[in-house]
Amino acid sequence: MVSSKTIDIAPSILSADFARLGEEIEAVERGGATILHVDVMDGHFVPNITIGLPVVKSIARSTRLPIDAHLMISEPDRYADKFVAAGAAMVSVHFEADKHLHRTLMSIKAAGAQPGVAVNPATPVESLEEALHFVDYVLVMSVDPGFGGQQFIPTSLQKVRRLRRMIDDRGLNVRIEIDGGIDRNNIAQVVAAGVQIVVAGSAVFHEPSAETAVRELREATVEWV
Ligand code: DX5
Ligand code: ZN
Repeated sequence: MVSSKTIDIAPSILSADFARLGEEIEAVERGGATILHVDVMDGHFVPNITIGLPVVKSIARSTRLPIDAHLMISEPDRYADKFVAAGAAMVSVHFEADKHLHRTLMSIKAAGAQPGVAVNPATPVESLEEALHFVDYVLVMSVDPGFGGQQFIPTSLQKVRRLRRMIDDRGLNVRIEIDGGIDRNNIAQVVAAGVQIVVAGSAVFHEPSAETAVRELREATVEWV
């Protein structure tokens, strides 16, 4: 039995109203969010441009939630430790974007944050055989990165199960984060498959109350098992 208390709910502010960002963050804090997911996009690695260092810096000053910076950028090695300095407690870089992944992950750790590796839907988890030893978490993308509000790719479930097995077989302490198309109807399935950190954007901020939406997502994590 999975307890809903051990699961981190990480609202993605990409779907928030940026003109009211402070209030939106307070709402998800009240709802029981435990991590704040920040999507950094450069218009190069992904076909969208979002926010960067100054915004992370401002948010870090105004929230008590740990900030999880998801870097969807080319050459993440140039910026990863800067996001830690800006206040991110977790920083993930894409496997597909970094030729020197180990060095970048080590730079995140040395700067004082948890390093994570993110994988696109078409990247097999088996590619992470070596990287698993250098990370605190793996971010499994369950949509193609770039936009909120996309449909969950169903094969992500078997991918999470395979990754969970890889991690457990090696006796590693690595958490699995899932990102993309998560809502009240599929959250229990991803948690049962082995996810500990659930990102949700539109299922939180496109609801009438972000506070209630976070609470309901957490309640729904146990319905499947
Ligand atoms: C997509 C981002 C996600 C996105 C999720 O590239 O990485 O974090 O905000 O949004 P939803 O939950 O709406 O799919
Ligand atoms: Zn993300």
